[in-house]
Amino acid sequence: MLWLKAFHIIAVICWFAGIFYLPRLFVYHAMAEDQATRDHLKVMERKLYRFISPFAVLTILFGALLIAQNMDYYLSAGWLHLKLLFVAGLIAYHLYCGHLVKKFANDQNQRQHVFYRWFNEAPVIALFAIVLLVVLKPF
Ligand code: HEM
Repeated sequence: MLWLKAFHIIAVICWFAGIFYLPRLFVYHAMAEDQATRDHLKVMERKLYRFISPFAVLTILFGALLIAQNMDYYLSAGWLHLKLLFVAGLIAYHLYCGHLVKKFANDQNQRQHVFYRWFNEAPVIALFAIVLLVVLKPF
């Protein structure tokens, strides 16, 4: 149980390192004025997305195994239901980032850097909510 939780947290940290940095690259990409910089950012975005995707899967896998260890308790835990709602939002965010990586790769981005600056804040909110929910278990 504790081993699972430890690996769950390690996977979360690796996933979040990327999910915080990738939209930051979108900010720089939307601001880039020359093709050489854009091409360089395309490689960074593609590699970063490929690096973090397995950690998203591992986070979910270890989380699911944690639930399986004590199914009756977790299925009735309100805080976990809300946490899973935030996790669903994070998965959608992650997949949308993959869509954006492809758009940038094809030079089809039409949004300004300000949009990506705000977009960058969403996982911060999810992180605060999830950590507070799992640690405080308020309901
Ligand atoms: C489908 C995805 C996920 C599932 C099924 C899941 C499930 C779980 C479960 C069952 C626990 C044990 C809670 C306990 O009894 O203390 C746990 C712990 C934890 N989870 Fe997740 N989780 C998922 C995703 C995430 C994400 C995305 C984050 C962070 C943003 C996260 C952060 C944590 C932390 C920090 C703990 C340790 C809490 C503690 O021991 O105090 N989890 N998770």
